[in-house]
Amino acid sequence: MTVTLNQLQSFLAVTRSGSVSGAAEELVVTQPSVSAALLALSRELGVELTERSGRGIRLSPAGRAFLPFASSVLGLLEQGRQAAREAAGRSASLVRIAAVTTAGEYLAPPLVQAFRARHPGVELTLEVANRERVFRWVLDHDADVAIGGRAPGDDRLVGEPFLPNELVLITSRDDPLAGRGDVPIAELAERTWLLREEGSGTRSMIEELLALHGLRPRTLPFGSNGAIKHAVRIGLGVSVQSRVAVELELRTGMLAAIQLREGLPERQWYALRSAVGPQRPLVTDFLAFVHTPEARAAIEAAQRP
Ligand code: PGA
Repeated sequence: MTVTLNQLQSFLAVTRSGSVSGAAEELVVTQPSVSAALLALSRELGVELTERSGRGIRLSPAGRAFLPFASSVLGLLEQGRQAAREAAGRSASLVRIAAVTTAGEYLAPPLVQAFRARHPGVELTLEVANRERVFRWVLDHDADVAIGGRAPGDDRLVGEPFLPNELVLITSRDDPLAGRGDVPIAELAERTWLLREEGSGTRSMIEELLALHGLRPRTLPFGSNGAIKHAVRIGLGVSVQSRVAVELELRTGMLAAIQLREGLPERQWYALRSAVGPQRPLVTDFLAFVHTPEARAAIEAAQRP
């Protein structure tokens, strides 16, 4: 097979932009050279990778099937380049972290700080998105490590739990149910439950919790951890968040917790990486580091007022 990098780059650029002209602009080459690369790639694979769609083009079913392999190959090669440059001292050592929202907001900062204290000079970057995008980045080798709230459920990813993800039902400090202990969830059936955005793991956990107990309360999508905390504080409703997200507010009395008789699901935080391809030594170090008492202490310290 004589698939070339140029063909793969053209294919990915067309996928991103949805047109040959957009891809040519992005790659700073001519349109005929993008078309020729696409044609050669389709010939090489023996299938049409794209099809017309209005004035642009879109991926055919064969193109969609090929896409993750093309991005993975290019991502892996970029990793190889980074490894070679790091080994030759030509580039700073880098760990690219991707995290789901809650982990990005509350776990990544102390982890980054503590890891840098151990490895001065190392660069760490953080991208935050929903679970689907975070996993995609790791699969495409655009991120080295992902932090998520569930096991990957995909053979191309490997992940280990590294920290319990305790959940807390939060309410305003003047709520009569706060601090009463042993509250049946049915007593919250008339409350408004504030939900995170679509794609959030916290949101699906609340939806599963309500369904499990046959509750259909009024729900209100409220978009972010911060918005929900403020809304709960002023009495707009109740919600469930990870303890790492609300510990500061609970300790300072800005929010209160309701102890549910039925309890809340038990969850873990996972550190994940791609199962495909070699791993740079620093990435291996970071993955080992998140399991250390030092990492846990840093996370706990960040939750103290
Ligand atoms: P979220 O993810 O912050 O996007 O809801 C957390 C989780 O999956 O538990």
